Formats: sequence, C-alpha cells, structure tokens
Amino acid sequence: MAKKIKIETELEVFESISELPTSIQNLMNKAHEAREKAYAPYSHFRVGATLLLESGTIISGNNQENAAYPSGLCAERVAVYHAGAVYPSQKITSLAITARSLNKKITEPIPPCGACRQALVEYEVKQESDIETYFMGESGKIIKANSIKDLLPLIFNKEYL
Ligand code: THU
Repeated sequence: MAKKIKIETELEVFESISELPTSIQNLMNKAHEAREKAYAPYSHFRVGATLLLESGTIISGNNQENAAYPSGLCAERVAVYHAGAVYPSQKITSLAITARSLNKKITEPIPPCGACRQALVEYEVKQESDIETYFMGESGKIIKANSIKDLLPLIFNKEYL
C-alpha cells in the first residue's frame, strides 16, 4: 500500500492592523499606499505589496496591467523583482500584501497567487532565510505565514536542475 504524507501549515490570524508589530503596521500601511497607485484599469482590482529589507529599507510594488492581459504583472512580483534588481545582496525579512476591488468590498485576506508564490520562494532559497508574509483585503483580518514555503509546499527549486 502506498505510504501517505501529510503536509501541515500553521498560519496566524490577526483581527486588525493594530494587533501587528509596529514595524509591520508601518509596512502594511505602506502597502495600502502602494495599492492605491496600482495601474489596474481592466480588473479594477488593486493590489499593493511591500517588502522590508534587513537594512530597514521598504520596497513597494503594485499591480501593473496591460491591454494584452498576460503582459501585466502582479504587485508581489513588481516588488520582489525591484528588490532583487536594486538590492541584490540584502535579505528580505517581511512582506505585506493588501488588495482592494472597486467592484466590491474585500474584507477577507487575499493571498498571493500561485505564480507569485513561486517567484517569491526563489528569494527565500537565494537568501537562505524565510520571508514572513502578512496579507489582508481592504480591511478586516490579516493572515501571517512564517514563510512563503508555508503557502507553497513541494516547491520547485534549483536542486532539481
Ligand atoms: N494580482 C496581484 O497583483 N497579485 C496577486 O497575487 C493576484 C492578482 C493582480 C493581477 C491583476 O492585475 C489583478 O490583480 C486581477 O487579477
């Protein structure tokens, strides 16, 4: 009989931004600011993502859409590729994500899409340390994962190449 493997993930749920550590409150507030500058004329779904680097620098990103839809890019990848391009040797310690739709009020936490999880986990492997990740909607609860790997088990990584 085939052996079964169980994969468990533990996440933390915060009721509001005020429950977060001060540095993360600041990071999430910056993500809200970035979100409002998103270029999302097609989906009307604005996402903001901020990264805290070990030096204290904050990198912001938001979704950038395109008339040729697949040419657009998610907020998380805009942020992490910017960090990778400008601060290649600095570790990323935390990520904050927030989303707001112009069509309906989002009060549930919005996690990063699968493609962004794969893009983000590359940097955990590169820097040999986890990126704690907080995500939320326009308002309401915030979910925290200790690592991108907790959101993406069985990652595809460089060991396979
Ligand atoms: N989007 C993000 O920015 N991040 C995600 O993780 C999911 C989706 C963007 C892409 C697109 O501009 C809009 O949200 C709707 O999918």
